[in-house]
Amino acid sequence: SFDLDSALGEVTDRHGRLRHQHWGVELVRRYFAPAIAHRRHTEINVLVDAYVTSSVVADDIVGHVLRRSHRTVPAIRAGLAEQLDRLPTPEDGAQDLVDLVLGLPGDLTPADRAQLLQRLVLSTVGFTGVTLEWVVMLGIQHGYDTPAVSHAQIQRLVREALRLYPTAWRLIRVAATAHDIAGARVQEGEHVLIGTHAIHRSAAVWDRPLDFRPSRWEQPTDAQRRSYLPFGKGDGMCPANGFAVKALEHLAHLILHSHHGHVRLRTRKPHVRTLLAPPTGWTRLTPAPHEGSSPF
Ligand code: HEM
Repeated sequence: SFDLDSALGEVTDRHGRLRHQHWGVELVRRYFAPAIAHRRHTEINVLVDAYVTSSVVADDIVGHVLRRSHRTVPAIRAGLAEQLDRLPTPEDGAQDLVDLVLGLPGDLTPADRAQLLQRLVLSTVGFTGVTLEWVVMLGIQHGYDTPAVSHAQIQRLVREALRLYPTAWRLIRVAATAHDIAGARVQEGEHVLIGTHAIHRSAAVWDRPLDFRPSRWEQPTDAQRRSYLPFGKGDGMCPANGFAVKALEHLAHLILHSHHGHVRLRTRKPHVRTLLAPPTGWTRLTPAPHEGSSPF
C-alpha cells in the first residue's frame, strides 16, 4: 500500500532533486512508518522524526553537526522514555517496534527501552535508506531504470551494490582470548575491526573485484558466498537481513521500473561515517512514459 509518488514528492527538494545522504533515509522512514510506530503514537512519531533528522542523518550519515545532536539525542531519548512509560505492555504481541520494546521481558527502565527503540530506528531506517540510495544510483548508472527491468535483475543489483559498497563497512568484535591474527597479537578484551569493504574487494575471491557486475551473482562460488558479509556473521549477525533485502528489492523495483534517472555527483568518493553513503550529489527521477507490470 506504499504510495511511492507522494513519498518521493515529500523527499524531493524544490529543484526536483533527491539529495544524496538524505533522501534514502527520509523515504525509508516513510516506507517503514507503520512498522516503527502506529499512527496513534503521535508524540512518539514526532520524536522518531526528530531522531532521524538530527542523529541518523546528521551524525551517522553526514557527520558534520555533532555538537547539535549531542544536545538533541538525550532530549529525544528522555521524551521517548516518558512516552513509553505511559503506555501499557501490549497483550497481543508486537504490531510495531514500539510494542516490541514495550513487551521485552526483564528489568528494563523506560530509558533502556527508549535507547533500544532508537537503535532499532537507526538500523531500520539508516542502513536500509543509505543502501537504497546506492542501489538506485548504481541502477541508474548501469541502465536499470527501465520498465523492462526484471525482479531477477533487481535482486542481483542489490547484491552487487552491497558487495562494492557495504553500508556497514566494518564489523566490530571483542577478542574473547588473547590470540594472533595473521601475525598480529590481539589481547583479550581488545576491539577487532573486520573490514567488510576490503574483504568484498579481495582479488583472491572476486574476479575483477572493482568492477560493478551484477551478473557475477548468477553463479557465485562457495568462497564468494562465505566472504560476502554485508549483514555480518555469527552471533551478532543482522536479524533483519532477509527482510531488509526484500524491502530494498521492492523499493528499488518500484522506483527503477517507473522512472528514468539522472545522477549528478559533486565528489567522487563515497562518504564514510558510521555508514558508507554515496558521494555528495543528487539523483533526479522522471516518470517513465510506459510502465511495465510489477512482479511484486
Ligand atoms: C540494508 C539494510 C541493513 C544492513 C546493511 C544491516 C547491517 C547490519 C550489520 C552489519 C549488523 C552487525 C552484524 C555483525 O556484527 O555481525 C547489523 C546488526 C543489527 N541489525 Fe541490521 N542491517 C540492515 C537492516 C536492518 C533492519 C531493517 C533492521 C530492523 C530492525 C536491523 C536490525 C539490526 C539489529 C537489531 C542488529 C543488532 C544485532 C545484535 O547486535 O545482536 N537491521 N545490521
